[in-house]
Amino acid sequence: MEKKNIDWSNLGFTYMKTDYRYVSNYKDGAWDEGAMITDDTVAINECAGVLQYAQTVFEGLKAYTTEDGRIVTFRPDLNGERMENSARRLEMPVFSKERFIKAVIETVKANAAYVPPYGSGATLYIRPYMFGSNPVIGVKPADEYQFRVFTTPVGPYFKGGVKPLTIRVSDFDRAAPNGTGHIKAGLNYAMSLHAIVDAHSQGFDENMYLDPGTRTKVEETGGANFLFVTKDNTVVTPKSSSILPSITRRSLIYVAEHYLGLKVEEREVLLEEVKDFAECGLCGTAAVISPVGKIVDHGKEIVLPAGMEQMGPVTQKLYDTLTGIQMGRLEAPEGWIQVIE
Ligand code: PLP
Ligand code: COI
Repeated sequence: MEKKNIDWSNLGFTYMKTDYRYVSNYKDGAWDEGAMITDDTVAINECAGVLQYAQTVFEGLKAYTTEDGRIVTFRPDLNGERMENSARRLEMPVFSKERFIKAVIETVKANAAYVPPYGSGATLYIRPYMFGSNPVIGVKPADEYQFRVFTTPVGPYFKGGVKPLTIRVSDFDRAAPNGTGHIKAGLNYAMSLHAIVDAHSQGFDENMYLDPGTRTKVEETGGANFLFVTKDNTVVTPKSSSILPSITRRSLIYVAEHYLGLKVEEREVLLEEVKDFAECGLCGTAAVISPVGKIVDHGKEIVLPAGMEQMGPVTQKLYDTLTGIQMGRLEAPEGWIQVIE
């Protein structure tokens, strides 16, 4: 298969139309068998549930070209499970994890010409999503839904690649104490738009959100979980019922313990103790692990000892090991790598 003529190494995290997308419709209580189509537009009624009451959930994962030339994806079963949970929380019908995995594989296969080559620094981002499609005017769940998967080749999420980021403590919340912070609902991201535009306008790369109940504990950013490293090399990651259960974070905890022999603590992290950490990183599918160099809390600067020039040494080891597993340079734990072709 011939690859598309794309400047892979200079891609940003932007949308590029690829040739095929997967669609399945839910009507009269059942999903149809689904199909691969070429039309990149969606036609729905003006009163569709998604347009009026934001009834939509999504996922994000990537396809990689490995060192030996295979196309693989990383733990799609966990994305499928998380999407099942997201759908349940928004009263949407579940598109089963098994069908989710098949749809992802089919869509990547159909767009294989867009999977960036090994070593290019780019990957194929896969975006499964689902939305209420029939007219809903009283506040209630839709009766009809569409599940779709599209793909787009991407480079690094943050401009500048792996240069340490400067983030600020946000005065806005992205989630409520008993809300939807733990699922991947579009509404959480709409919530974060004003905060991110405001952060960018003030020269910050991202927001650090605090727990919405007490505003004393670290939660996550708009699109990634936090990982901290203590001065004695323990990996610490915030535990909270209002953050997204990141698949990258869960994988890194395993990598830290089983590949690198590090101690890991998943626990509440007070904003007050952040100044004592040696390293900080943002982890997620899009972010991979992006190092944080500086955290600004209302004018008070916390400069992580790892500095503004490069990743800290533990963050670097975690990054190398995780990407080594994803790109086939290191042996993966059982079930982590789904071979596509
Ligand atoms: N937190 C938020 C709010 C996200 O949007 C994402 C991205 O999916 C993550 C964390 C990281 O999750 P994952 O590692 O499963 O991509
Ligand atoms: C992902 O990492 O897949 C996400 O969905 C995060 C988003 C901010 C791009």
